[in-house]
Amino acid sequence: MKTFYITTPIYYPNDKLHIGHAYTTVAADAIARFKKLQGYDVFFLTGTDEHGQKIQRRAAKAGKDPKKFVDEIVAGIKQLWSKLGVDYSYFIRTTDEHHERAVQHIFKKIQEKGDIYKATYEGWYCVPCETFWLERQLVDGKCPDCGAPVELLSEESYFFRISKYADRLLKYIEDNPDFIQPVSRRNEMVSFIKSGLEDLCISRTTFDWGIKVPGDPKHVIYVWFDALSNYITALGYPDNTENFQKYWPADVHLVGKEIVRFHTIIWPIILMALDLPLPRKVFGHGWLVLESGKMSKSKGNVIDPIELVNKYGLDAVRYFLLREIPFGSDGMYSEEALVNRINFDLANDLGNLLHRTLTMVRRFAGGKIPAPGREQPEDKRLRLLAAETAEKVAAHMERLEISDAIAAAFSLVAAGNKYVDEMAPWSIAKTGPQERLNTVLYYLCEVLRQCSVMLSPFMIETPGKIMAQLGIGASYLAGTWSELTKWGLTPSGGEVQEPTPIFPRIEPESRSVTGSDAQAELITIEDFKKLELKVAKILEAEKVKGADKLLKLEIDLGGERRQIVSGIAKHYSPEELIGKNIVVLANLQPARIRGVESCGMLLAASSGEKLALVTTDGDIEPGSRIS
Ligand code: MSP
Repeated sequence: MKTFYITTPIYYPNDKLHIGHAYTTVAADAIARFKKLQGYDVFFLTGTDEHGQKIQRRAAKAGKDPKKFVDEIVAGIKQLWSKLGVDYSYFIRTTDEHHERAVQHIFKKIQEKGDIYKATYEGWYCVPCETFWLERQLVDGKCPDCGAPVELLSEESYFFRISKYADRLLKYIEDNPDFIQPVSRRNEMVSFIKSGLEDLCISRTTFDWGIKVPGDPKHVIYVWFDALSNYITALGYPDNTENFQKYWPADVHLVGKEIVRFHTIIWPIILMALDLPLPRKVFGHGWLVLESGKMSKSKGNVIDPIELVNKYGLDAVRYFLLREIPFGSDGMYSEEALVNRINFDLANDLGNLLHRTLTMVRRFAGGKIPAPGREQPEDKRLRLLAAETAEKVAAHMERLEISDAIAAAFSLVAAGNKYVDEMAPWSIAKTGPQERLNTVLYYLCEVLRQCSVMLSPFMIETPGKIMAQLGIGASYLAGTWSELTKWGLTPSGGEVQEPTPIFPRIEPESRSVTGSDAQAELITIEDFKKLELKVAKILEAEKVKGADKLLKLEIDLGGERRQIVSGIAKHYSPEELIGKNIVVLANLQPARIRGVESCGMLLAASSGEKLALVTTDGDIEPGSRIS
């Protein structure tokens, strides 16, 4: 079986993790799930980076022993991953005994090779980044990465002869264009290496929370040397070689862009010094930023992923993280954007397709998924589009274009909705034949199944919920990508359930928007384009029994007949409405109002007690789009 080894950075357990950390881990989880679905034997590693001066100081500040301090935070991190549906294969802690022994082995091996020597380090150190800096690299005397004040060090240290490997590393990067991704980060690294590598200080003596240098316990090993080694020690290196043989070299180290440098310079050189193969890819993704800048505890602007999941649900949060930002670029986080994704993509597009399909199967096929009849050209187009979409999703995932992969899957959702509009099953129901209706309904159910399969690496609960509402077992999600994306696996005859919204719309009052409210009230033209406003002609109108404000209207939306319910009974009599042209929001998620189904909403203006329908100036075909 083909193997796939993917890692996240190991996180500093100095504080609770925030949505930025969740972003990397959920992305790695989605890639791992996708590869599993493709039939790979996947090893997905995450963990915690527990040594170093930063952690020691934080523990001291909290009045705790460092190990006890990190134990508590690590327990919370594991809970967070479980809450986010992160299905890792192994969780490494750098305080694990095996890891500590293995790092000493690595140190010793490189030392014996002559690539580690003792000298005096004089220079600057940034504790938050755990990074050594030369005087010339500082910006205004501060850390060029995080802007924190640096500390002057002068101590006897061990040095790693990384300068010796610079040419070999450059050649590796040139020969393996996929090694550093995206390409902009590769270019940055190449110029960094070309500007000259200095030997790296890899031990400290002024604190002791770390792995001791073998044979010289006054020194602790530099935390990055210790941490980077986790990618092989977690596989059992050096003494338990089964997993190491099986999974090394890693297929992808997924990291934030600020630590690409450690992963593409120090880490490959450690491996070269050990005569081990280098990882296939280091992918440096962008940051999730807020309007107030990068998230940080000191700025007090961190977003807690647990709160978001409690408020909006697991799949909505995962979907947002993976869909909103092109993977590799920086992207803005706002609660407003999250709510829009839920309302537009999940409730309107996906939720609506499911709702409409189930409603029609119940209304026109006795509640059971019918067997399809003869395929017509428009059905074939949909079937071929599903196959093409599966290929696109896979191709995007191969290049780690997660957001594009999800967008591709959603284009099938959109095509399903369009197919409903174009096929107008409610019209076929009147004219027949039933065979034609059965085919259309079956194709819709099958599209929903295919969408569920394609979304299953990104969402945990939704695909199963869709299967359950369709009345097909979750077994139709078990199998490999190529098996499950074959057309026609949906069985006929199963009884569909009464539709329940998989993503209820979030109404404005339940949001607590972060960021500027003034900006939140403005929408873009893209937002506006999501509203499907259409002209409709009222064909029939009657009062809703037991509700004196409501009218039930049958409308013509250009070949499609729909029922909507509207609270205009106090202002219009049913008779005066018939034949009127009105404006309808056609892609509103269907709702039941006083037990009567309403598929859309008419627009009306109101001022105090007065109300007037919005209509068109002059005659225009029902179904005409308003823009
Ligand atoms: N311990 C080191 C990594 C060692 S790996 C051998 C470290 N830890 S960290 O806790 O600071 O986590 C850094 C990682 O968290 C980043 O590389 C990135 O993957 C993720 N993120 C932290 N904040 C983030 C954002 N605001 N946005 C996106 N990712 C962010 O560095």
